[in-house]
Amino acid sequence: CLVRHYNFRVVMANTTKLCSTKSFVTANGQFPGPTLYAREDDTVIVRVINHVNENVTIHWHGIKQFRTGWSDGPAYVTQCPIQPGQSYVYNFTITGQRGTLLWHAHVTWLRATVHGAIVILPKQGTPYPFPKPDKEKIIVLGEWWKSDVEAVLQESTKSGFPPNISDAHTINGHPGPVPGCSSQGGYTLHVESGKTYLLRIVNAAMNDELFFKIGGHKLIIVEADASYVKPFEIDTIFLSPGQTTNALLTANQDVGKYSIAVTPFMDAPILFDNLTAIGTLRYKGTPPYPKTILTSIPPLNATSLTYNFIDSLRSLNSNEYPAKVPLTIDHSLFFTISVGVNPCDTCLNGTKLVSDINNISFVMPTIALLQAHYFDIKGVFTDDFPANPPIFFNYTGTQPANIQTNNGTKVYRLAFNSTVQVILQGTAMIAPENHPLHLHGFNFFVVGTGLGNFDPEKDPKSFNLVDPVERNTVGVPNGGWVAIRFRANNPGVWFMHCHLEVHTTWGLKMAFLVDNGEGPPQSLLPPPYDLPEC
Ligand code: C2O
Repeated sequence: CLVRHYNFRVVMANTTKLCSTKSFVTANGQFPGPTLYAREDDTVIVRVINHVNENVTIHWHGIKQFRTGWSDGPAYVTQCPIQPGQSYVYNFTITGQRGTLLWHAHVTWLRATVHGAIVILPKQGTPYPFPKPDKEKIIVLGEWWKSDVEAVLQESTKSGFPPNISDAHTINGHPGPVPGCSSQGGYTLHVESGKTYLLRIVNAAMNDELFFKIGGHKLIIVEADASYVKPFEIDTIFLSPGQTTNALLTANQDVGKYSIAVTPFMDAPILFDNLTAIGTLRYKGTPPYPKTILTSIPPLNATSLTYNFIDSLRSLNSNEYPAKVPLTIDHSLFFTISVGVNPCDTCLNGTKLVSDINNISFVMPTIALLQAHYFDIKGVFTDDFPANPPIFFNYTGTQPANIQTNNGTKVYRLAFNSTVQVILQGTAMIAPENHPLHLHGFNFFVVGTGLGNFDPEKDPKSFNLVDPVERNTVGVPNGGWVAIRFRANNPGVWFMHCHLEVHTTWGLKMAFLVDNGEGPPQSLLPPPYDLPEC
């Protein structure tokens, strides 16, 4: 195994998209940012140098960071931000995972433009557990605002209303087609007849769950969130922000042009974002002025397409890649996921939208939780995050009379190597929708999911404890629940939050504190000397 060195210079760049030019924050001037390549077992060292006028951190989304929580990146959780003019070196080893992940800024809404793909190849000499593709292509899906994204956030914080939706979805940075701006082409995927391509697809959008499909072609899914899955064929991929997948595409159709569609899934009736990004799959040797084979665009509320994709995901669970599902549970947790309304003196209606887990809207501390934990600094957080909601109500039925939430900076404490089951229960409060929950520091197994209220007697009987998919981000269905399991074998403080950035901002987040085990091999490493100060 190798040590791979990268430099990420966080700098401003200018670009024109949607007929409008703006200056925005980037890594190395690129949008999407540079791809990070490594093999399983490699050590990755990234020096991040902040040349912009605001605070920065970078998170390596889905990298387990065993014992290296200091390199995980969420601001005020594992580190204080890198201030203007400062730098910080992230240093971690990739163990027990291979596939595609993403990295992104993890402070305010900077990740809108500061993100990129992580490609983890198998160890040298280890083949893929599927036919070797001829070529690999990275496809990063994102969103683009014509205005400054931080201003969009501030405006929404001030008003108490949801932020403006983005002006376009993007494929590798390309919006398109753009009415009135037709000189700007969309993304083109070039292929050669008869060849097979491994598409490494990343949803780096801020607030939109996305469908991805290619006209006239089927895709074979082989991996999700950097874990191999049992291969299955599908024509529409569904990814929540933070999720990734690898798909095999064989160029086995007539030479020509085919459209690629990226379009949002919205099951919350109050949202109206139906912007579709169109790209092109183009065969080598396509004659001039070909006719493009179009793809049908999934409707906004195509819930059945989301289930087609999600229900097909199973861990590969082979001899080489067994699914190590915890079969006994030490911590059994039940978390409700809601959006509510709290009073706000300075907001337009006197109220603001908030979001919570077990009725707690998480308040970010001013010192990183991991520092407070390691140096035993009192008064930063409490470890009384509730294992259950404070009151029981018909979660997916009528909402309770009082929907105000409490504020708190609370963590849930886990003994080293204990096993955890969390039932994530969606609720019908205010604006029910699908919430993609992301856990830092671990992969978890998705052992069950269903609609309505979780039934503790009946539902566990149908859990899949054999080959459930292993992920780092999972959708809590609108008006339903999902059950996840993991082993707390990584000491440190690990953020869990909705990966719809707007809900994270509103407080839909919490953290697990995992204590050290016996002796140094089971303990958090000491902080690096250049750890930023608050
Ligand atoms: Cu992809 Cu906490 O984030």
